Amino acid sequence: MASVDRKETRILGIESSCDETAAAVVVDGRRVLSSVVASQIDVHRKYGGVVPELASREHLRQIVPVVREVMEQSGLRFEELDAIGVTQGPGLVGSLLVGITYGKTLAKALGKPLIGVNHLEGHVHAVFLEAVERGEEPKLPAVCLIVSGGHTVLYEVRFAEEKGSGKLIYRRLGQTRDDAAGEAYDKVSKLLGLGYPGGPILDRLADAAGNVAAPVRFGPTKTRGNALDFSFSGLKTAVLYHAGRRNFAELLRLCSPQTLGLVREFQRAVVRDLVERSLAAAEECNVETILVSGGVSANSQLRATFEERTKPAALKVHFPGRALATDNAAMIAAAAYAPYLRREFADVRLNAKASMALE
Ligand code: KG4
Ligand code: ZN
Repeated sequence: MASVDRKETRILGIESSCDETAAAVVVDGRRVLSSVVASQIDVHRKYGGVVPELASREHLRQIVPVVREVMEQSGLRFEELDAIGVTQGPGLVGSLLVGITYGKTLAKALGKPLIGVNHLEGHVHAVFLEAVERGEEPKLPAVCLIVSGGHTVLYEVRFAEEKGSGKLIYRRLGQTRDDAAGEAYDKVSKLLGLGYPGGPILDRLADAAGNVAAPVRFGPTKTRGNALDFSFSGLKTAVLYHAGRRNFAELLRLCSPQTLGLVREFQRAVVRDLVERSLAAAEECNVETILVSGGVSANSQLRATFEERTKPAALKVHFPGRALATDNAAMIAAAAYAPYLRREFADVRLNAKASMALE
């Protein structure tokens, strides 16, 4: 049981925007006291992607036991919390509503303030959480790449003018024009018959591919207009094309060299575009720091390539620990801390938002 100083601010975070029901207690926006994530992967696996109706139903089943468990692990009583932070959006409305309704009811019952949090801002804070604990606070301004199953977007992040408010301001530099990178991983894995979620599976297979011959090389994608935008749907179609041109039975055998080579080349192409656009954005914004967050930031090759490419450019790259890269509620509680200090509280009208800008 962790001990908590009475003067500290204890925020319960709740996250239910997609297929993870999560709760966490975070002290002063920095120290994770407890964090519980109930994943729905098993529910959605046979469909090869998240089914929104099933997701809402699962959140309803999970929310009470998840919060109960996180409170037990924190060693705190509900009355000892200072605020409730809940994901308002972006995400699946039916799923968001479960967390929001629970959060509103709890806040009302306890007489504590409620804070609506942008899920993307949560991902940004995930980077700060463990970096600060390791004594490596990321320097701002920075370029932040949020790359997950639902998002692939580049922001410039800086502190707001008001000193000490902790408020961050964002300028969007580029985003995907079609699939998010994580979505492309999941779809490619599905079409190769390799399982769900695709990211971690392809990550391991690409590594196992070693030096097998490349069945194909994918060139960098071009996005007319904004050179910092991304596009992954053409790459997904190219994988489908190359998969279809081969002996399918052989291709679908998990460890055939062709499959491994194809997976490795797919990953190489995704990673290259994510890293090169982020470096170009850092140069354009003249910043020394790159933050990378979201489920795909757990990818081993993405991490290694960022490290390799940033060093010679005297840039510092920061990632969350792997557990905080995918959806969790510690990042939501952390993001709720600055609005808590500014007393930016929500009321019972707080509503779910399918899309929600950060800037
Ligand atoms: O952040 P997240 O949990 O949920 C969203 O906000 O979307 O990200 C989930 C996504 C999935 O598409 C999953 O395939 C991908 O992150 N992912 C990965 C890895 N681990 C999870 N993608 C590539 N490599 C990984 N190791
Ligand atoms: Zn997310």
